[in-house]
Amino acid sequence: MIKKEKIKQYLAELNDASVEDCLKFAVNIFGIEYFALASSFSIEDQVLTRMLLTIDPKAKIFTLDTGRLPQETYNTMDLTMKKYSFNYEFLFPESLAIEDMESKFGPNLFYQSIKNRKMCCNIRKVLPLQKKLSSLKCWVCGLRKEQSSTRTDVNILEWDENNGLFKMNPLANWNEQNVWDYLKEHNIPYNKLYDSNYKSIGCDPCTRAIQLGEDVRAGRWWWEAPEQKECGLHRR
Ligand code: ADX
Ligand code: SF4
Repeated sequence: MIKKEKIKQYLAELNDASVEDCLKFAVNIFGIEYFALASSFSIEDQVLTRMLLTIDPKAKIFTLDTGRLPQETYNTMDLTMKKYSFNYEFLFPESLAIEDMESKFGPNLFYQSIKNRKMCCNIRKVLPLQKKLSSLKCWVCGLRKEQSSTRTDVNILEWDENNGLFKMNPLANWNEQNVWDYLKEHNIPYNKLYDSNYKSIGCDPCTRAIQLGEDVRAGRWWWEAPEQKECGLHRR
């Protein structure tokens, strides 16, 4: 049984904990079978991947492969698997749902309306995530407060009411420079799109590079207003 009432006690125990301490805490409390990192191969997820595999090489890391990811993201997966000698768990959307959606609305439905964009995110990401989370007690993400106006209240540990389990955001208080410093120090592979001014990377048709001075997430669903720019993975 997962006890959400424990959140206060856990947060008190994690007061001043380092990122590694948070991950060790979660492995101990929830057990390696019931705790997993969700990776989109962002620089944040690459930091957490290295830390988690150093704590326990049997740690579970899954990715939602939407089928529309940039080739650079697949290259990052490949390099990371080779470097740390492990395999990701790949979660795919239901093929029937994709066939139905694209047959009705075409392959580029996300540009047609916010409703269609959210339907695509729901089928390709949210539903496979929900299925996975039903087998876990805690999931880990690379969310940081600094990333957007929708994320300023992210905490290192939260109760995920929508999915009924704990959610850990160990990098909540890190800034972008902290992330790059750790990546460089440990020579961790990263998505080469970051070298071309990409700051937040999702599916290929819904991600682009940003201009100087633009918000970190300005390149995600750039045709939508900032308050719409969530795909439903992190409903708050
Ligand atoms: S999103 O909601 O806009 O797509 P973002 O790209 O900022 O999220 O990523 C935030 C965190 O959500 C990542 O650090 C990762 O933990 C998780 N995440 C996002 N996309 C995926 C994915 N395709 N597979 C697994 N985890 C993901
Ligand atoms: Fe579909 Fe774009 Fe959402 Fe990816 S980010 S699931 S392509 S709408």
